[in-house]
Amino acid sequence: MAYTIGFAGKGGTGKTTLAGFTVAYLVEKKLGTVLAVDADPNSNLNSVLGVEVESTLGDIKEEVKNNQEGIFPGGMTRAEYMNFRLQQAIVEAKGYDLLVMGRPEGKGCYCFANGVLREATDRLSNSYDFIVIDNEAGLEHLSRGTTRKVDLMFAVSECSKRGVEAAYRIKGLIEELKLDVGELFLIINRVPEKGFTEEILDAVKRYNLSLAGTVPLDEEIFDFDNRGIPLVKISRENKALSAYREILDNILLPRIETRKKALMA
Ligand SMILES: Nc1ncnc2c1ncn2[C@@H]1O[C@H](COP(=O)(O)OP(=O)(O)O)[C@@H](O)[C@H]1O
Ligand SMILES: [Mg+2]
Repeated sequence: MAYTIGFAGKGGTGKTTLAGFTVAYLVEKKLGTVLAVDADPNSNLNSVLGVEVESTLGDIKEEVKNNQEGIFPGGMTRAEYMNFRLQQAIVEAKGYDLLVMGRPEGKGCYCFANGVLREATDRLSNSYDFIVIDNEAGLEHLSRGTTRKVDLMFAVSECSKRGVEAAYRIKGLIEELKLDVGELFLIINRVPEKGFTEEILDAVKRYNLSLAGTVPLDEEIFDFDNRGIPLVKISRENKALSAYREILDNILLPRIETRKKALMA
């Protein structure tokens, strides 16, 4: 079973950025095989990672649904064709693979497509050591999966009391959707120099959230993003990246170690 790391939070909090940094961290430290999953319909994890995407699971579903005659190249059955297209949709990048879920479903029945793809992606997921999921804000897609267990979920928040409240609602959402989440940690991102106030810390305590750490607001990230340079190309000295890597050193690494020991025992 893969160890799954997920990112949740409102739009613009930094989920995609941190998901991308996580993929780069796992690859650099050679911790195992990695599948990055972009589960946000406004997908842009690929641009943070600097890879091109040709097709998404959404495209495959649409294509198969629209093929009413059910005639597929090479005499493939509908299911065979979907599996073939799924293989094509997986982007093989340096040290990891990327799968993009794509747009949400339109009208009509996607039952067959969903069933085939779910089975295929479940099988696929189990062949990696790590899965990093950049989630959509609502998390609904997670409840549609069958074995979508998230071992470590990071709720990413902006640096405000209201941001922390929104992160707290993620906790409620997880319960409401009955998602299988092992552990939930809060990350406060884009913290301005004097931004992390007592009030915010009070809110964290009041809501009983486990704070993994904070990541500073960083001009360079902003700059890279605006110039369209993949964020994973940012230097290790960058202050936001080093703060985040410290969070991964403290939170993720020990869990990987424990897991490795348990698997060997
Ligand atoms: N620590 C940071 N400092 C400065 N800008 C950041 C930081 N983290 C993220 N950003 C920027 O904020 C914007 C939203 O980040 P993104 O990761 O796309 O959020 P989300 O995936 O939650 O919508 C992007 O332009 C990103 O470059
Ligand atoms: Mg995003």
